[in-house]
Amino acid sequence: MNISKRLSILSIFVLAAVLVFQGPALAASHDDHLEVMLEGMPIGELTEEEKEGILYLREEEKLARDLYSAFYDKWGLRTFSQVSMSEKNHMDSMKLLVDRYGLEDPVIEERGRFSDPKLQQIYYTFLARGMTSRGEAILVALMVEEMDIYDFREEQKKTDKPDLLVIYENLERGSRNHLRAYGRQLKKENLVYKAEYLSQAEVDSIMASPNERD
Ligand SMILES: [Fe+2]
Repeated sequence: MNISKRLSILSIFVLAAVLVFQGPALAASHDDHLEVMLEGMPIGELTEEEKEGILYLREEEKLARDLYSAFYDKWGLRTFSQVSMSEKNHMDSMKLLVDRYGLEDPVIEERGRFSDPKLQQIYYTFLARGMTSRGEAILVALMVEEMDIYDFREEQKKTDKPDLLVIYENLERGSRNHLRAYGRQLKKENLVYKAEYLSQAEVDSIMASPNERD
């Protein structure tokens, strides 16, 4: 066997080893970290309100993922595909709670379809608006993030369960980072966003502050 052949065989082994070792590392996301945190927490008895909150927020994360991936397909703006992937992680975090409490998962895999009629309606309305221009899509994305932050806060008020609270606080922080990511795009497009769910002062101050660690 000549040297170059040996080297190419060796490089295949090295590549295989890298792939094997990288597999778990790549899979070790944020959710694994949350999963470990949840393991040490008590499983309480959920109220109806808490159950509804989990199911709604699980699908609300899908709403964000589906909208951003549709916006990416239409406008090709990388921020949409990046945040859409992050929303998939948020969906997975909510799934931890769905499974932990043995709830029936409301998620329908197909893009743009929802079990909750309210979310289905929001999807259609937001999608139609975001398809009119790239700027409108960014404004819609900011509205989605603001709505998520608002809803996570509302659900935090309704529960004292540490496992629910840790997930909600985490995802609220993630949504603030998403708001910042879209805020940067807003600036590039020279657009102004009018707050819908939180105060204008708070939305502006989140957008002006640095990213938080997820
Ligand atoms: Fe988000």
